[in-house]
Amino acid sequence: MLKGRHFIGPRDFTLEELDGLFSLAGSMEREPERWLDAARGRILATLFFEPSTRTRLSFEAAMLRLGGGVIGFAEPGSSSASKGESLADTIRTVSAYADVIAMRNPKEGAALLASRFSTVPVINAGDGGHHHPTQTLTDLLAIRSLKGRTEGLTVGFCGDLRFGRTVHSLAQGLARYPDNHFILVSPDELKVPDFITKEVFEKEGIEYLETSDLEGVLPRLDILYMTRVQKERFFNEEDYLRLKDSFILDAARMRLAKADLAVLHPLPRVNEIAVEVDADPRAAYFAQVRYGMFARMALIASLLGVS
Ligand code: NCD
Repeated sequence: MLKGRHFIGPRDFTLEELDGLFSLAGSMEREPERWLDAARGRILATLFFEPSTRTRLSFEAAMLRLGGGVIGFAEPGSSSASKGESLADTIRTVSAYADVIAMRNPKEGAALLASRFSTVPVINAGDGGHHHPTQTLTDLLAIRSLKGRTEGLTVGFCGDLRFGRTVHSLAQGLARYPDNHFILVSPDELKVPDFITKEVFEKEGIEYLETSDLEGVLPRLDILYMTRVQKERFFNEEDYLRLKDSFILDAARMRLAKADLAVLHPLPRVNEIAVEVDADPRAAYFAQVRYGMFARMALIASLLGVS
């Protein structure tokens, strides 16, 4: 039962609970009209202390498609945080108005802190460079639908693996299924942090390879998860400019890949996937966006306990 729970990290739910969520998302996609009134009279608050297009809008679209209402803010400047209010006080207040809260915050650990002060479920919509578990729901649902399985896959992560929270969450999420292998492609400065490589992969005996040779590893991949270099988390502009175009996936590189590769990207894309790749049938990143809305519908309905 997910009713009343928080969703802060990618491993908060058991594999069985995730399976239940994914089949619910599937039935919502097939028969959306059955859910139009499911959350009538309930309110989702979206508290975004950091910019977002897809995540916030997909949460809001998900709640509206369940028949519920939405309140919130899209930038901290328009909330009392700008007057110096603590996160704890903001959350205590909002949980008096809303039935579920989705929050994005630039500080690692902010969602966990919020969950300690909230009387309603808190969903982590991104906490700094740490985690982004609803993107993982999106990605796992996409992989399940596109590849028919979430196990026995060779998964390449490419780009900013240091600050990319979607990578940290998905790597932890996929590492729970048997026989997945990970190839981590990044410049030296942007390698996956130890809290994933040492604390998850090594502790759990999961095979991974770190490299900066995208072309060399492309032919082996079943999934290629491209990411943007996270400009807002750099300490200086020079490093960002030097690293931002380290890896660019283009049509020539796609020729090296398997015929059934799936290219994913949490979006927004900057330069790391050339626009010419969009027309390749293996480019799945815009289809991935749609899975995100159904995954969030299933999550909200389950946390609220509506059916
Ligand atoms: C990601 C994020 O915010 O971490 N975007 C998203 O939620 N789809 C990825 C990114 O910003 O690069």
